[in-house]
Amino acid sequence: MTHPPDAAPQRLTARAAGPLRGAVRAPGDKSISHRAVMLGALAVGRTRVSGLLEGEDVLATAEAFRRMGAGVTRGADGVWTIDGVGLGGLREPADVLDMGNSGTAARLLMGVLAGHPIRCFLTGDASLRKRPMNRVADPLRRMGARIETRSGGRLPLMIEGAEGVLPIRYELPVASAQVKSAVLLAGLMARGETTVLEPAATRDHTERMLGHFGASVRVEPRGEGPDGRLGPAVTLLGEPELTAADIHVPADPSSAAFPIVAALVTPGSAVRVTGVGLNPTRTGLFTTLREMGADLAIENEREEGGEPLGDLVARHSALTGVEVPPERAPSMIDEYPILCVAAAFAEGETVMRGVEELRVKESDRIAAMEAALAANGVSSASGADWMTVTGCGPADGKRGVAGGGTVQTHLDHRIAMSALVLGLAARAPVAIDDARAIATSFPDFQPLMMGLGANFYA
Ligand code: S3P
Repeated sequence: MTHPPDAAPQRLTARAAGPLRGAVRAPGDKSISHRAVMLGALAVGRTRVSGLLEGEDVLATAEAFRRMGAGVTRGADGVWTIDGVGLGGLREPADVLDMGNSGTAARLLMGVLAGHPIRCFLTGDASLRKRPMNRVADPLRRMGARIETRSGGRLPLMIEGAEGVLPIRYELPVASAQVKSAVLLAGLMARGETTVLEPAATRDHTERMLGHFGASVRVEPRGEGPDGRLGPAVTLLGEPELTAADIHVPADPSSAAFPIVAALVTPGSAVRVTGVGLNPTRTGLFTTLREMGADLAIENEREEGGEPLGDLVARHSALTGVEVPPERAPSMIDEYPILCVAAAFAEGETVMRGVEELRVKESDRIAAMEAALAANGVSSASGADWMTVTGCGPADGKRGVAGGGTVQTHLDHRIAMSALVLGLAARAPVAIDDARAIATSFPDFQPLMMGLGANFYA
């Protein structure tokens, strides 16, 4: 789960090696996988989940729920079986729950635990222990939970849920699907309606899946606010009958982004990624890439288990820098590191605004990407909530990204994968100090990319 302290960092280098070609399936969606395990564990009956992401983050969630009494097992066919304990049925774990690298696991679990009158201790790896938890602890305390964090609202923390959870109407101070989800999950155990008001629409997998398990969820649009379009008001009626319901997890658009951008920036490439989730709260990167001039097609659009999906086909393209509007940030919040790579091979400047949340992800992603780009000859600039990248032009042997640097990944999977993609089209190889974090969301990244023609070496 967490990297064993005695395990050595794994250096990895990427170098240009001709076009990327072929068809691949990206791993299961991380957000949907966490929720499938959690809601399956809270439902009555047996939930079967196919396509579950078997990355370290989701395995941490699975292990936590096992320790609280749910049956969570992988079948030989790769389909996972979750035997739920029913709402309120989790039992106190005998030891600290280690959520590894995963903010989603820690924060959504806090929501679940706020409705269980048991006492739990949560921790995580060095990255997760730096991340803010008060954004979740504050509303959960208002709902009746007792939560003691380390100073600054950091992990480790103790949480003791309430006997009778209070339903609240909560205006989110930040556009965060994790905070919204934590409040809704706590609201499952409340008598009455819990409402979350979003400043901007964030990923809605929790709402969709709660409906899939039989809960009553109302989503009401709220129109314009002073800073643009407001997100909806999401209302859950507490104490529902949650009934086991099978789930098919689509491929993660946030993981698909890596082979797609790799194909866009590497001359001669054409790559198909199949079965990718296309929930509109997640597709901001694809919109932005098309605005930059990307040859990116969507084929075989369909719907499975309440989520839209399709195949993405990306071909090497001449890209131009664009200005990404702040209101698009929630729909591509995890994709800015890989957008920086596309921007590095574009003509002109790419401007990203409204991205202050990047500072509190698995790493400070603005600082980490600025350092990664600088180490490889790409200019950038940033402020508290913005970043710009000055494109070097396409990789044509003379122009494009110089490369030749080593990137510090700070236990951040998306910094690690973005840096390796940079190296696939740069003039000189790009190294990362440690590839281990990639396993949190994309355990097969290396073989999958090498199957398309990527050259990675230790
Ligand atoms: C997630 C929400 C996002 C995202 C994270 C997964 C989720 O975080 O960055 O990787 O599954 O709800 P925030 O909601 O905190 O922005």
